[in-house]
Amino acid sequence: MQDPVDRSRRRFILQTGVGLFAAASMPAWVRAMEMHGMPKLAPNRASPDFKPDVEFELVAGLGSVPILPGSPTRVQHYTAKLISGPKDTLTEMPSCHLGPIIRVQKGQKVRIHFRNELMEPTITHWHGLHVPALMDGHPMYIIDPGETFVYEFEVINRASLNIYHPHPHEITARQVYYGLAGGLIVNDEEEAKLELPSGEYEIPIVLQDRRFNAQNQLIYGPHMHDRMMGFYGDRILVNGRPNAEFDVASRAYRLRFLNGSNARIYKLGWSDGTPLTVIGVDGGLLESPETFPYVMLAPGERLDVWADFSGRPKGSELTMRSLPFSGVLPMMAEHMTRRGGRGGMGGGMMGGMGMMGAMDLPVGSDYPLFKIRVTREAGESPVLPSRLSKIDRYTLSDVANPNKPVPIAISESPMAMLLNGRPYAFNDIQPFERIPIDTVQLLEIFHTRGHGMGHGMGGMGHGMRGRMMGMMGGGNDGESRQDGQGMGGGMGMMFSMAHPIHLHGDQFQVISRSVSGARADAYATVKDGLISSGLKDTVLVMPGETVRLIKPFHHFKGVFMYHCHNLEHEDMGMMRDFLVE
Ligand code: C2O
Ligand code: CU
Ligand code: CU
Repeated sequence: MQDPVDRSRRRFILQTGVGLFAAASMPAWVRAMEMHGMPKLAPNRASPDFKPDVEFELVAGLGSVPILPGSPTRVQHYTAKLISGPKDTLTEMPSCHLGPIIRVQKGQKVRIHFRNELMEPTITHWHGLHVPALMDGHPMYIIDPGETFVYEFEVINRASLNIYHPHPHEITARQVYYGLAGGLIVNDEEEAKLELPSGEYEIPIVLQDRRFNAQNQLIYGPHMHDRMMGFYGDRILVNGRPNAEFDVASRAYRLRFLNGSNARIYKLGWSDGTPLTVIGVDGGLLESPETFPYVMLAPGERLDVWADFSGRPKGSELTMRSLPFSGVLPMMAEHMTRRGGRGGMGGGMMGGMGMMGAMDLPVGSDYPLFKIRVTREAGESPVLPSRLSKIDRYTLSDVANPNKPVPIAISESPMAMLLNGRPYAFNDIQPFERIPIDTVQLLEIFHTRGHGMGHGMGGMGHGMRGRMMGMMGGGNDGESRQDGQGMGGGMGMMFSMAHPIHLHGDQFQVISRSVSGARADAYATVKDGLISSGLKDTVLVMPGETVRLIKPFHHFKGVFMYHCHNLEHEDMGMMRDFLVE
């Protein structure tokens, strides 16, 4: 066996193109990360005791698909083949390079033979599903080209739309960008009783943004500032297609949105001002339908929308847009994209491919996502149920730590977006990241003003340190958020931006959100589209915002990740592990 550290260092250099950083100016945390190698474990094999209800093969490989007129585009993509089980388990999306929609039932036992036919390591994660740690696609389980990892798990989630995507450390963003992603739908009996629109009336809508060169090839080469803000494309793809249009009948549809973008946040709204009727989010159905003027959808989040086109005449059209908003990028970057200038500071400090993408199609600007065309009259339409599901709401009286929330501190600087002051490193679990199995925990996600460049507690701003000490039981709990004299306090605010924070494992509930600081005006442009009811695994945290969650840690011991789902941030190390024990 090779020395794991050596191997990982080589990988790190090969795969991240460390050449982007001049070696001499490489920040300490990058060097630290390079040293924190992942182990190389033998891929999991099928167990003879596991009797699957459904079994299929999933391959991550290379392909070439027509996306734009002219030359086909080279992609990395998932393909799958059913071995046994229900015929509707795998559904290709028409002319789409994304993986097939995988459909499973709650209670089903699933075995997946996952083969790596890429030229580099990968591993697949079932975003949203609660499965044993070994089956969760943690980066420590990466497999090399030619290897097969066998997943075996029982579906314990309720009905919901989930995502499968790669999770190798430091190259997740690139692999997703080049096409490795797909939707995984769980159905259950509670949902079936509702007889929601299905078949052709249930439409998956995977939103992504991409950049192409003149030869129709995908461009991905995040510069330093793209790592800081995320990589943005200048073109929207829906289910892998540009200029998407859907022909519908004048009746109700179920639109199942999934934001599969690396960094782009959408503010979904119908062009004619019709409110959105939301029936579900990440973790499945809401208790009852809710209407919103618009809905924010961050990378990793899902949304279940009841779209009733009844009464719309044949020939009429409607567009789903991303509506204008602000506050998701650091203030200076936002001004830059608004001005649209590329010269001067824009070209120098902020210029570069991804940023130009942001300028061509700035996040927070107003642009179309897809068009709906009513091409058929429908005689009748299903009726929106007034009750959808039952959710057992947790309250503070259920949690093990009502006065000492588990901290998820966001620190922001141009060189490092971090969680809890530490870049991702394998086996670097801190005391507050150890969670007793079968407990329900209160968690608090908040921004710190410290510039977060340091590695470990020493580099944190005072506010954060005080606060975390409080949470970890070291100091008095009264020290409050963002009020410390954080190192470079102003700097911290300057780079403050939105982060979709994702937690593996059980779905959680958002119990409170509060915002403080300079960017309240920006918050007003998004706040009516943040959904706090329902079960979530990813929550958009705006600049200056503090979000409290209640999350059960049930069923499985082991390592479960939490990270920013801005994939450039994730790869930069804005990721940590919880150890459930
Ligand atoms: Cu969708 Cu840990 O990821
Ligand atoms: Cu996940
Ligand atoms: Cu982030």
